[in-house]
Amino acid sequence: MAKKADSSIAKVFKTIRDEGVQMIDFKFMDFPGQWQHVSIPASRLEESSFDDGFGFDGSSMRGWKAINESDMLIIPDPSTAFIDKFIEAKTLSLICDVYDPLTKEKYERCPRSIAQKAEAYLASTGIADTAFMGAEAEFFIFDDIRFDTNEHSSYYYLDSIEGRWNSGREEMPNLGYKPRYKEGYYPVPPTDHLQDIRNEMTLNMAGAGAASSPATPAAGGSELTAEQLAKGIGPITSVTLGEVDAALAEQGKATFTLKCSACHKLEVRYVAPQLGGVLERRTPEFVMNMILNPAEMIEKHPSARALLAQYMTPMPNQNLTQEEARAVLEYLRSAASASSTGTTSER
Ligand code: HEC
Repeated sequence: MAKKADSSIAKVFKTIRDEGVQMIDFKFMDFPGQWQHVSIPASRLEESSFDDGFGFDGSSMRGWKAINESDMLIIPDPSTAFIDKFIEAKTLSLICDVYDPLTKEKYERCPRSIAQKAEAYLASTGIADTAFMGAEAEFFIFDDIRFDTNEHSSYYYLDSIEGRWNSGREEMPNLGYKPRYKEGYYPVPPTDHLQDIRNEMTLNMAGAGAASSPATPAAGGSELTAEQLAKGIGPITSVTLGEVDAALAEQGKATFTLKCSACHKLEVRYVAPQLGGVLERRTPEFVMNMILNPAEMIEKHPSARALLAQYMTPMPNQNLTQEEARAVLEYLRSAASASSTGTTSER
């Protein structure tokens, strides 16, 4: 095992002294990917612990060792230290790598070591040198959750003070402000009852060293500027539209038939959203950026992300040039104006 960087180890001991840390909590991950932990008094942590590790019994871990070969080693990674605020005794948390004590190799069923191998492999291919991965802390807050399946009944029951279904409940008094269905994303307090607790979470996470993006109610939070929200993210920042250019639209139609119509139809929703009325809900820039830069749009733009959640297929990059994308836009415009002047229009 390589010697760990001394500076981060020194920092751990400085934190222990400065903060009066009493307990060390070692965290590691089981095979299915759930956090597990063991704690020791801070006085037992020594500099050599970061090389020698601590033995523990791996037999009770799902999918790991048999009971007769159950000794395993956890070795803390000093760069992962943070103060865990939610434990009464002052506690420093350290994430550990799991080792086989005999071979002194990283244990092949530890998800952290698998991820590290994947990172090393990526670097070895020369495709890229860093992979960024992150968990999205998406969650719901309920006031009551119950479920059961037994001999004579089966049910689930969720409740929340924000539940629209509680509009008529006696709450001594009921103060209203229960958002209507599908309208809970961005409203301000008092409709958003949970601003304070979200702030507290965000601040605690930041205090623990987690980089965070803005806290917003429910899914759909984003760090985008108003302009990016309107125009999407990508090479197109401005499109000037004149009268519909029939020749350009005709070129766009050919591209659309070849590269888009497998998933998109104009009149109906298919594998992908119906595109007939797309310019009523999106700006021309958004449409072109979605065509030219779909991966980033899906990752970062809340509207594109919401569509992905609904359609479950990521829109692929069809490698159109900007000119081709512009022509497709013209085709979508021409189709829209044709349908709005047609007698069967139903808008
Ligand atoms: C393999 C299927 C597929 C192909 C091919 C495809 N798309 Fe998409 N497209 C999708 C899906 C699915 C979505 C919804 C977002 C998501 O799930 O990623 C989408 C979203 C879009 C949107 C946003 C719609 C909205 O309501 O905001 C536009 C615009 C779009 N596609 C245009 C095109 C164009 C133009 C082409 C051809 C150059 C094309 N797409 C090719 C699957 C596809």
